[in-house]
Amino acid sequence: MSSELDTAVTAAKKAGAIALRKFGELDLTEIHPKEYKDFVTEVDKACERSIASAISAAFPDDGMLCEEGSAAKGSSGRKWIVDPLDGTLNFIHSFPVFAISIALSDARNDLVAGVVYQPVLDELFTAEKGTGAYLNGSPIHVSSRNNPEQFLIATGIPFKEYHYLESYVSMLKEVIHDSAGIRRAGSAAIDLAYTACGRFDAFWEYKLFPWDFSAGVLLVREAGGIVTSFSGNSDVTEHHSIIAGTPVTHPLLLEKAKKHFQEHM
Ligand code: IPD
Ligand code: CA
Ligand code: CA
Repeated sequence: MSSELDTAVTAAKKAGAIALRKFGELDLTEIHPKEYKDFVTEVDKACERSIASAISAAFPDDGMLCEEGSAAKGSSGRKWIVDPLDGTLNFIHSFPVFAISIALSDARNDLVAGVVYQPVLDELFTAEKGTGAYLNGSPIHVSSRNNPEQFLIATGIPFKEYHYLESYVSMLKEVIHDSAGIRRAGSAAIDLAYTACGRFDAFWEYKLFPWDFSAGVLLVREAGGIVTSFSGNSDVTEHHSIIAGTPVTHPLLLEKAKKHFQEHM
């Protein structure tokens, strides 16, 4: 394991312990509105402080982009992309699906390391470019299912922007027909990690940010999967839409996204 991945793993586990200590114990005064239907808690902030200080101590020349505002320009060209708590609404409601997500991109903007840590289950998903993806140290691979009647597909449902709701619903109707079931877990990082290890056969969501998906994208790719934007672009950091799947499921979802989201691309 590189020292970069090692730092990310240690930081994710420490943040996970911070989150777990407060899970189910959050006071209403510790929840703050950020935007319309978007919240931040004192736990998101504490996790971010902990991760940002660990990364900047270990790699002071690297840049950093964290969801809750910690940022560094850096001089190395590399960038850490951090979601200190993905699944904040779940966390607020004591729904035990949330994760810490930490990724590193190199000077060419390629994702080179990624960690998604789900503290409730003590599940640590890790990947480094070119060396595969792992769950708690064991190699993982995307699903090999090829019968739509067996597909379990994850998604994120629009919740604060509605201009693409009709497109989303018409795509959803088709995926309902072409799968065994759909899940909305409430954490894009976990949706991607579960796609990487084959629990989900695919995942799609329209409005996401780099901190939501960067680590998960590397996990899926290193686990043998395919990830693009809704328009089919593999440089997903430039886009806000994600389709992740297997060589079988990704093309099926991409075709539907191109059909239904044409006016939004
Ligand atoms: C959210 C989760 C959710 C997705 C939202 C994200 P947050 O991240 O990943 O699954 O649907 O778009 O904003 O706010 O909990 O870090
Ligand atoms: Ca997030
Ligand atoms: Ca977050």
